[in-house]
Amino acid sequence: MEQGFFRSPKKRGRVAVLLSGRGSNFRAIHDAMLAGKINADIVLVFSNKADAPGLQTARERGLETLHLDPKAFPGREAYDAAIVEELKKREVDLVCLAGYMKIITPPFCQAFRNRIMNIHPALLPSFPGLHAQKQAVDYGVRYSGATVHFVWEEVDAGPIILQAVVPVHQDDTEETLADRILEWEHQIYPEAVRLYFEGRLEVRGRRVYILD
Ligand code: GAR
Repeated sequence: MEQGFFRSPKKRGRVAVLLSGRGSNFRAIHDAMLAGKINADIVLVFSNKADAPGLQTARERGLETLHLDPKAFPGREAYDAAIVEELKKREVDLVCLAGYMKIITPPFCQAFRNRIMNIHPALLPSFPGLHAQKQAVDYGVRYSGATVHFVWEEVDAGPIILQAVVPVHQDDTEETLADRILEWEHQIYPEAVRLYFEGRLEVRGRRVYILD
C-alpha cells in the first residue's frame, strides 16, 4: 500500500481526459471549465476506441483528440508507455479517466503518481470493477452512489476524493440506477478537479484531506 504525502498544485492546470464511450463526464468537466469554475484547460481527449462518441464531441468542441489502437502494440505496458509519452509531450498535469474501460498499468500509475483521477459508479470499496450499478441492484443495497478517487496500482482502490450517496429504489433496474448515479457523477467529478487545481487536495497515506 502506498504511503506518503502529496498536496495538489495551485495553478492553471493542463488536463487530459481518457475515455472509451459516451463521454458525459468529460462534457461535465469541460462545461465547468468553460463556465470558469475550474482553473484548468483540457489539452487532450484520448481514447482507445476510434469510434468513441466522446471523441467526436471533443472534436466538435475544438479540442485536440488522439486515438491509439491497443492492437497495434505488443502489450499493455507498451500501449501505456505510448500514452504516457503523449501526455508528457503536452505537459499534462492531471489525467481524468472518464469511462476509460482499460486498466492502467503500474508504470503509467507511477509516471503520474497522484495525478490520475477516476470516477466509479458505486460507493467504493463496494462494487468495484465492471457493471457496478448492476452489482448494487443485484445485491439489494438501499444506497449506492459515485466515487471520485486517485488511481493507484490496484483497480478502484486509490484514495477517495469525493463521494455522493444515491438511493436505490425497489423497482430500479441497472439502467434507472445508472441514470440516477450519473447525475451525481456530473456534480462530483468537476468539483474534484476544481479542488485539485485550487491546491486543496492533500493525500496523507490513503486519506484525502480537503483544505479550506
Ligand atoms: C460512468 O458511469 C462512469 O462512472 C463509468 O462509466 C460511465 C461512463 O460514462 N466508469 C466505470 O464504470 C469505470 N469502472 P460517460 O462516458 O458518459 O462519462
